[in-house]
Amino acid sequence: MQELIECKNISKTYGKKPALKNVSFSLPLRGVFALIGRNGAGKTTLIKILSTLLEPTSGTAEIGKINIVKNPAEIRKSIAVLSQEAKAVNWLTPRQQIFIYLLYRGMGINEAKMKTEEVIKTFKIGKNADIVNSRLSGGIKRKVLIAMVISTGSKILFLDEPTIGLDPIAREELWYILRRLKKTHFIFLTTHYLNEAEALADNIGIFDEGRLVQIGTLQELRKNINYQYSIYVQESRISLKSLKRYGKVVKGIDNKLQLLVDQKNADLLSKRFIQQKIRFSINPISLEDIFYYFTKKQILEESYE
Ligand SMILES: Nc1ncnc2c1ncn2[C@@H]1O[C@H](COP(=O)(O)OP(=O)(O)O)[C@@H](O)[C@H]1O
Ligand SMILES: [Mg+2]
Repeated sequence: MQELIECKNISKTYGKKPALKNVSFSLPLRGVFALIGRNGAGKTTLIKILSTLLEPTSGTAEIGKINIVKNPAEIRKSIAVLSQEAKAVNWLTPRQQIFIYLLYRGMGINEAKMKTEEVIKTFKIGKNADIVNSRLSGGIKRKVLIAMVISTGSKILFLDEPTIGLDPIAREELWYILRRLKKTHFIFLTTHYLNEAEALADNIGIFDEGRLVQIGTLQELRKNINYQYSIYVQESRISLKSLKRYGKVVKGIDNKLQLLVDQKNADLLSKRFIQQKIRFSINPISLEDIFYYFTKKQILEESYE
């Protein structure tokens, strides 16, 4: 039988402030699950609860049938976590940092040595492996932390905003590694980079103000919207009012309006804009469009409202 990660009505309040509201989902324990949401949406809180660093106010979860509230010690043995606040220890070198971390997790000396060398190779950190962290760039330090978590060999990884601060090339390198890993691992990650979720995720969750508002594959999320195309119109002489009846206006910045439309209205408006020589662009909807749609945070300047 397929192993699952199952969240059952998890809520969390800090004092009186709700951070998570009845979060429930069930996913197979394989591939990548990317959780996206604005700052403060509750992503870190959920990761902390699932990785037993924090107790839920109510509700519970199981990871491969192990209950996170009843058996936190068991859970900790089977997972590895990169927390959002994780920092490289300044006075250690990457090689030392990874090795010590593995010993701390209870690995034997020889295995820890072997795993350290293995991950240094995979992550191509060899030339920086013996320079103290304080002298390394932020991007390299981030890479070392991710390498450290992956070196544990845990098949269940929680990565809270793993690629924040990485340059585009370093990010693509990590994607390459994660794509290979996800064939044999379950990777739960949070990210602000929607292209990262698109590139890696088998399932995507959209978080908004402590609620899981959507979950599914990109195709499934697409199906949950009635619009298939996104149109950007650059001309300010088009009034918002005249567009509203064709679809959903989601953004209006710098004289650019973004409108989500269905197939029929995509045809209709394209023809109209061409006839009237109005500049526009049209694309199938992206994850970014879906995200704006479901989080209901439309970016509209006052003049458009
Ligand atoms: N230790 C804490 N004490 C009080 N409030 C907190 C604490 N941690 C997080 N919060 C609040 O809970 C909400 C969710 O935060 P968080 O889970 O960090 O969101 P995200 O990771 O999506 O940015 C935010 O409003 C945040 O201010
Ligand atoms: Mg966070």
